Amino acid sequence: MKTYAEYLQMVETVLSAQLASLGQIPEKLFETMDYSLSAGGKRLRPVLLLAACDTLGGDLSEALPFACALEMIHTYSLIHDDLPAMDNDDLRRGRPTNHKVFGEGMAILAGDGLLSAAAELMLRAAVQMGDLRGVRAAEAILRRAGVTGMVAGQVMDVTGEGSTPTLEKVEYIHLHKTADLLTAPIEAGFLLAGATDEQVKAGCAYGMHLGLAFQMVDDLLDVEGESAVLGKSIGKDAAAGKLTWVAVRGAEQTRDDAKEQVRLAVEAMNMLPGETNFLKTLAQSTLNRVQ
Ligand code: IPE
Ligand code: IPE
Ligand code: MG
Ligand code: MG
Ligand code: MG
Repeated sequence: MKTYAEYLQMVETVLSAQLASLGQIPEKLFETMDYSLSAGGKRLRPVLLLAACDTLGGDLSEALPFACALEMIHTYSLIHDDLPAMDNDDLRRGRPTNHKVFGEGMAILAGDGLLSAAAELMLRAAVQMGDLRGVRAAEAILRRAGVTGMVAGQVMDVTGEGSTPTLEKVEYIHLHKTADLLTAPIEAGFLLAGATDEQVKAGCAYGMHLGLAFQMVDDLLDVEGESAVLGKSIGKDAAAGKLTWVAVRGAEQTRDDAKEQVRLAVEAMNMLPGETNFLKTLAQSTLNRVQ
């Protein structure tokens, strides 16, 4: 196993190059996509994918294109999430949001571009692998990003704005807009490593609980965080009438609920072989994150 910084470095080194490897991308389009893609961020999802694959003894060089593709999908989701028609945000990853710099039309197209580039990269890698592991990993990532996953969660997030917050609605939003994209790297990383169905199931339980805790803390940070550290604006959820965990449960209970989700994530990892400490520690660290 490697450290977080080492997995992160593996991703940073090839991320923009993976995009460029697709061929003759119009200059303005590449610039717009790469503005958000190379802006940093925690790279949590690609790190999780590499670490999950490593935990079960998989080949990291095979996993790397899938890790990069997932970060492209996540970045597209952020660009679109920040648009005036959605959350209308000006700051992301410490920089002006994509549409503030390139305009809404290009921001929409950059998101479209990142999503389709991700699918292309994953299927290219899967073809090269020559067995079904890559296809299954790509299917898992696209399913969890898609119309029953992240997009479905974003729909409830947007259409629910201003409505009465209930635990049922917020749970659905968190499960799909966030937990699905944090389960995708575990599911895909495990599939690439040739995991059994039982192992994939335990990995997905870990991802779901981690994802719920992650979004609970995101909701808390919107209330209690520091914009300069967070790299995005704060106080916007309440102002927009967003259905957040804090709106339903209050800050104190949200902290306890996040702790419980992390406990469940760690418990799911206990069912697996391999060196699971990395993933357990990572889950615990989401409780103390400040960005
Ligand atoms: C932000 O994700 C969107 C949410 C699901 C809360 P991250 O907090 O992982 O953002 P980056 O990638 O580090 O910028
Ligand atoms: C967004 O949730 C989750 C996505 C699918 C992008 P938020 O709207 O709470 O994320 P932030 O706070 O803008 O990063
Ligand atoms: Mg949003
Ligand atoms: Mg947002
Ligand atoms: Mg948020």
